[in-house]
Amino acid sequence: MRCILIGLPGSGKGTQAGILAAKFGIAHVSTGDMMRAAIQSGSDLGSRARKQVESGELVSDAIIIGLVNNRIREPDCRGGFVMDGFPRTLEQAVALRAARIHVDYVIELDVSERDVIERMSGRRVHPASGRVYHVKFNPSRATDTDDVTGEPLVQRPDDREDVIRVRIGTYNSRTVPIISYYIDWERSGDPQAPHFVKVNGQGSVAGVRERLSAAVSEVEA
Ligand code: AP5
Repeated sequence: MRCILIGLPGSGKGTQAGILAAKFGIAHVSTGDMMRAAIQSGSDLGSRARKQVESGELVSDAIIIGLVNNRIREPDCRGGFVMDGFPRTLEQAVALRAARIHVDYVIELDVSERDVIERMSGRRVHPASGRVYHVKFNPSRATDTDDVTGEPLVQRPDDREDVIRVRIGTYNSRTVPIISYYIDWERSGDPQAPHFVKVNGQGSVAGVRERLSAAVSEVEA
């Protein structure tokens, strides 16, 4: 099982990717988590990416493509992977295809802009593990405390309302075009093309998980 999740920032890609990875025993590859880890480690790459990540813009294609090419060759990706946050430009989608890395599904999580704003403004994260909570929809057991380690939860610097608006704009201009790219590729009849599936991402986490599983098995049947 190799799949790509596409959707607005805050549409639930990370949440559903974690569920799919656990269900299928596959790797969860999140370029956002990779960028945040690089920033936190103070590496050269992290210092170069910080400005873009914190202002809601995209990190350069060259950096991201290089990182993903290495990441998906690691042993835990051999049994499959779910990609969350990559590709998000046409250049990245073309590079993935050129690398001949076969993908079974491209899944678009469809959520309204109003809902993603509410989801991101209430999001809290545990930086060390990447665990994600929401103050209203998925609260931790104790306020602002990670359930597993008891460490404090934080708000992402890019979850401020002004940055959220930039991220939504970036998604609409840079990422939406890859949806038609994948639809056209599948329509071309190329057996290497992934199946494109659009899933309603509104409603509860459990409801979305059910629709996602059903969509994947429908295509498999
Ligand atoms: P990234 O971390 O990928 O950010 P994003 O795409 O904006 O996505 P998010 O992580 O904000 O949201 P999500 O869809 O994963 O939602 P989540 O599950 O957390 O990227 C960050 C930055 O890194 C980018 O801006 C860019 O600078 C850089 N970058 C990364 N990849 C790149 C690339 N390929 N190219 C260039 N630059 C790149 O859910 C959100 C909240 O809602 C959570 O609180 C969650 O608990 C809650 N929630 C989830 N599902 C539901 C539900 N069904 N109902 C209610 N609440 C829900």
